[in-house]
Amino acid sequence: MVSEAVTGVDGETASDPLGRGFWTVHQGDARQLADFLPRGAQQHGSEGAPFIQTTITSPPYANLVDYGAANQIGFGQSYQDYLAACRTVFEDVYRWTLDGGSLWLVADSLMTPNGRGTPSRLVPLPFDLAAEAAKVGWTLREVIVWRKDRTRPWSHPGKLRNGFEYVLFFVKSKSFKFNVDRLRETSSLKSWWVKYPERHNPWGMTPDNVWDIPIPVQGSWADSSLRHACPFPPELVRRMVALSSEEGDVVFDPFAGSGMVVATAESEGRRALGVELNPEYVEAFHQRVRPVLTRRSTAGSVKPVGLMTQRLLELRVLKYPKELAKQLLREGFTAAQLIGMIVDVESINWTPAQTGYASIICTVVVSEQLSEIERARLSKAVEDATSRAPLSRYGLRVSCSILPLTDILEDRDETSLAVYTKGRTWNASHVIPASALAGWLREQGSQSVVPIVSELQVNQSLEEYL
Ligand SMILES: C[S@@+](CC[C@H](N)C(=O)[O-])C[C@H]1O[C@@H](n2cnc3c(N)ncnc32)[C@H](O)[C@@H]1O
Repeated sequence: MVSEAVTGVDGETASDPLGRGFWTVHQGDARQLADFLPRGAQQHGSEGAPFIQTTITSPPYANLVDYGAANQIGFGQSYQDYLAACRTVFEDVYRWTLDGGSLWLVADSLMTPNGRGTPSRLVPLPFDLAAEAAKVGWTLREVIVWRKDRTRPWSHPGKLRNGFEYVLFFVKSKSFKFNVDRLRETSSLKSWWVKYPERHNPWGMTPDNVWDIPIPVQGSWADSSLRHACPFPPELVRRMVALSSEEGDVVFDPFAGSGMVVATAESEGRRALGVELNPEYVEAFHQRVRPVLTRRSTAGSVKPVGLMTQRLLELRVLKYPKELAKQLLREGFTAAQLIGMIVDVESINWTPAQTGYASIICTVVVSEQLSEIERARLSKAVEDATSRAPLSRYGLRVSCSILPLTDILEDRDETSLAVYTKGRTWNASHVIPASALAGWLREQGSQSVVPIVSELQVNQSLEEYL
């Protein structure tokens, strides 16, 4: 039975001063989910209908680990009975998971003991569990390698030290939530991207499927029963939660152990629910895990924009007019006709957004000598160049105009403008007052490189990006 003895269900408990009531770790048997989860739906307000967005769990480690509670799944069971018990859990979870929902299983392989004359054999436990999950409807979408710095003591002659666990990701339907933008990162970029910012997503690369996440050092959870539960590192849970759910969604763990999934999901603003057989672990969740993770809560905090993201966005904006000038010169316009390119930034999306990287105004400053006919041809050339690759792939919203040098307003406010004259849009040549722009462009006269002018001042040598 999933009992209410330890945590209470409907009201606050002494160990739950925030009054999260039902949304907590419950002491009980995951084989009874068919009785328990309908109550979850009721508490959620979706009576009789699915309510779980994602389930994140590591099932017991087959017969290998005794988690210290009678009637546990795994320890003392045959492998077949163990798999069948896990299947029942996966089936109940499937029934109560929303259509766009998912299931994460974290598991490790194991070795059979040596037989008489036969070598011990590696049992692909994660994939046996995956087969059970598939039998009840789950679709396997992704396998992630969680590389840990340390693992449980493991000594097998003729075997390499085991340095990772599997993280399997299953979905219920095609419309599953998977928000990769939340895990993008830029730390692995090298300097040469500076010259080709348009080739890289400034918000960061799509995360890969090998995750290096150390397990917290022994001392961080002084409670020995906690250590025995093999608690997940919060960062591992945070990634799964971020990828597959939104704030307010329900995150579930049927083998909650120390409740690391529940506490981390809660600290990320989700409604979290867990079931755990061993009352000591449930108590550890209330006394130690939840209070610590609640203190560390990052929900709602805004991640600072990394320098690399900032630079890549600026460089992309600055390279756009440079590329446009290149295309126009290719069409037969001369540097004497194209006096300069001004790029004004309307807005930049420093964090992932549907509206592209930035919104800019690109002004082609032309000689007053340009005839009406030439101007019409230029206008067409600008339209063509901006609507085809490479410019159409910059991910910028651009409005372009052509402006004779004589029409440059001298009344730009007191801002400074950076000018890029050597074709290097990562390194400004000068900074001038905006009011001096027309005079400065006139003085420049005909140059082989069309100067780029912008309020964005990027002034770094390539070495600084290394
Ligand atoms: C691998 S541990 C999970 C550790 C957890 N991920 C954490 O962060 O602490 C598996 C857990 O399943 C629990 N368990 C075993 N049989 C169970 C059952 N029938 N119902 C609920 N929990 C059970 C064990 O007590 C153990 O805590």
